[in-house]
Order: sequence, then structure tokens, then C-alpha cells
Amino acid sequence: MNASAPSLARRCDAVAPFFVLELIKEAGQLERSGRSIVHLSVGEPDFTAPEPVVRAAQAAVESGRSRYTPALGITALREAISRFYRDRFGLSVEPDRVVITAGASGALVLLLSALLDPEDEVLLPDPCYPCNRHIASAVGARFRLITCGPAERFQLSAAAVEPAWSAHTRGVLIGSPSNPTGTTIQWDALAQLCDRVLARGGFVLVDEIYQGLTYDHAPATALSLDPRVAVINSFSKYFGMTGWRLGWIVAPPEWVAALERLSQNLYLCASAIAQHAALACFEADSLEVFEQRREQFRQRRNFLLPALRQLGFGVPVVPDGAFYVYADISTLTRADGDRFEGSSQFARRLLHEAGVCLVPGKDFGRFDAERYVRLSYATSMEKLQEAIRRIGAYLGR
Ligand SMILES: Cc1ncc(COP(=O)(O)O)c(C=O)c1O
Repeated sequence: MNASAPSLARRCDAVAPFFVLELIKEAGQLERSGRSIVHLSVGEPDFTAPEPVVRAAQAAVESGRSRYTPALGITALREAISRFYRDRFGLSVEPDRVVITAGASGALVLLLSALLDPEDEVLLPDPCYPCNRHIASAVGARFRLITCGPAERFQLSAAAVEPAWSAHTRGVLIGSPSNPTGTTIQWDALAQLCDRVLARGGFVLVDEIYQGLTYDHAPATALSLDPRVAVINSFSKYFGMTGWRLGWIVAPPEWVAALERLSQNLYLCASAIAQHAALACFEADSLEVFEQRREQFRQRRNFLLPALRQLGFGVPVVPDGAFYVYADISTLTRADGDRFEGSSQFARRLLHEAGVCLVPGKDFGRFDAERYVRLSYATSMEKLQEAIRRIGAYLGR
């Protein structure tokens, strides 16, 4: 008799674990042994849902609004999101184009399942949010990473897409502001990218999960460019509701029926309680809280960026959004004058020797991955100051 468990599908091999999870495990062990660790690794706001949202969730639970909802989401929330685009961007987005999902993660799974057949390929910037690669693999499709350096603000350009386009290419998926770089794509560059890809009949997916979190200019949406563009958004980051598992897609109308069928079959609907609670996100009191938090993130960025540069980190492009700095460690020297082998070694040593946890570049792609680390400033100013003090002492500054 064969005593081992039946084998898994090959697609599991294509889904790589996050390297940072190993570091976070090690950080946990250090903390249990009494060490203090400052975490700059987590891509999760240190804020939670504001009071009106919590009250709305309690009311939804108490009144039993916890049954399945339509797969596309409750009408009131789809309408509230449609109004949000009107009020913020002066855009008319029909509620019928809004698809409520289980977080931006659910949105990515739905869209890539709907758009990619086996053998089809999606173009992704390198570096990018790692789950994009893994979701493409998990739906049996392929991805192609396109090197995007500081000169392109780490964003995909029309010029870079052109030579990479093959008979298998179906479209592009970008994030703006980006995880891990915190950089937004410039409007003209986005317009050119959309034109080029749409002219080829390809899809353009823009992950706008950090849309509300921009610091040097007003938030923008790729929906303003062309109704054939689809955007992904979420209540996780700007709205501070990571664990509520709620997001949305605004899709071209022709895609909505297929997205509905897929969501009916893959997970029936997003959390009903979360949907009812999220309606309160669009009340004036909540929006004021979100904007105050945005200001706090801006202040943190304004502290962290010059402090890192002062310590010798290279930050070639000012991160103007999200809550990340993608910093080049290749010119850093240790107290003894030596350089680091690469960002993976740097991240491990910094954790063990200085008590600061951050993410090495290899979680986000291949291009110059050993040069970069991602630091998250989704933590208090006091912790950021302590992290800078520790890194400075470790580097002998
Ligand atoms: C760029 C990007 N997209 C999508 C997600 C998934 O977010 P959620 O599923 O919580 O909405 C994240 C989370 O960190 C992200 O950074």
C-alpha cells in the first residue's frame, strides 16, 4: 500500500512562498526569546476600520444581514462606489460595472481566471506585487516579467511592452501606486500604455488598491482614460479594513456576466457583513478619518525618505504613494567598512543584529532584486524613528 498522500497538481510548484515569511518566522522566535523587533515588513495599515464602519458592522450582525448576497455584491454598495467615482474624480461609472469581490485578491483571481486561457500570457512589471505572478500560474496561465527600472519609475511603459508582446500575450497588469516601490505611473505614460495595449486588442488591468494613498498629487484613476480599462480596488489599505476581505473591480460592461458566473462558482459572494459595513466608508465622518490618516502616512514618508538617504540608502525615485520605500542597499557599508553581499543577506543580518525586519527585493521579482529592500511605513512614527536609530547604529553612522 502506498502510505504517502496523493500527489498535488504541478501548478502548486509554480506558486513560490514569500521569502519574507521566513524572516517573519525568525523575527517571532527572536521576540519570544525576549528581543525587541521593529517590523517594517508588513504591508498592512496600523489603523483599523473607523468608528462608523464598526457600528455599521454591529448593526448588520444584529439585524441578521448575514445571508448570501448577489455574487456581484449588494446594490447599495455598488451604487456607493459609483458615487465615489463621481464625487472624487467627476467620472460616470455605471453601478452595473462595479463587481464586489473578496479583497483585491479576489478581484485578481476573478479577472485573471476570466481573461487567461492556458498558454496565454500576461505582462507584468518587474518588480511587482508577487501574487500577480502566482495567481497567473494558479489559473494555469503564464506571465512575463518586464524589467522596469528607476528611469521608468519602476512602471511598465508602452515602449517596453512593444518588444515583449508575443502571440500568447493577452494583456498587462500594473499597480499604481506600486507595491513594492510606492511609485505612481505618470499620467502620460499610462495613457500611452493603454493606447498601445488596447490597440493590440489586449486587456489593461490597473491595480489601484493604493489609490487613496498618494502624497504629492491628488489620487487619479485609470478609468478616466478609457472605459475598456479595468481597475481593481479594495477596502484593505486606504480604508484600513484588511481582514474584512472586501474589494471591487470596475470592469468593461461586456465582462460583467462572466465575472458574475465565476464569482458565483468560486466563492458565491464577498462577506455580507463586510459589504453592509463598508457602506459607512463613504460617509463624511469616515472620509475625514481616511484623509487624516493619509496625512499621517505622508508625514511618515517625509520622515523616512531623507533619513534613509542620510544613512546611505539609495532611493532613486521619490515614492509618492502607498506606504513603501524601495531602497537600494548596494552602496551601504557596514561599520567595519565591508559591503553587503545583497539585500537577502542584508535583511537577515539586520533582523538578527539590529532587530529591524524588512523585505528583501527577491520577493518582488528578478530585476536587481539583490540590490533592493522594501520598507513599509505602515507603522507609528515612534517605531520608524527607532528603526532609523537601530539601522544607523548598526551601520556605524
Ligand atoms: C498591490 C496589491 N494588490 C492586491 C493586494 C491584496 O489586497 P487585499 O486582498 O487585501 O485587498 C495587495 C496586498 O498587499 C497589494 O499590495
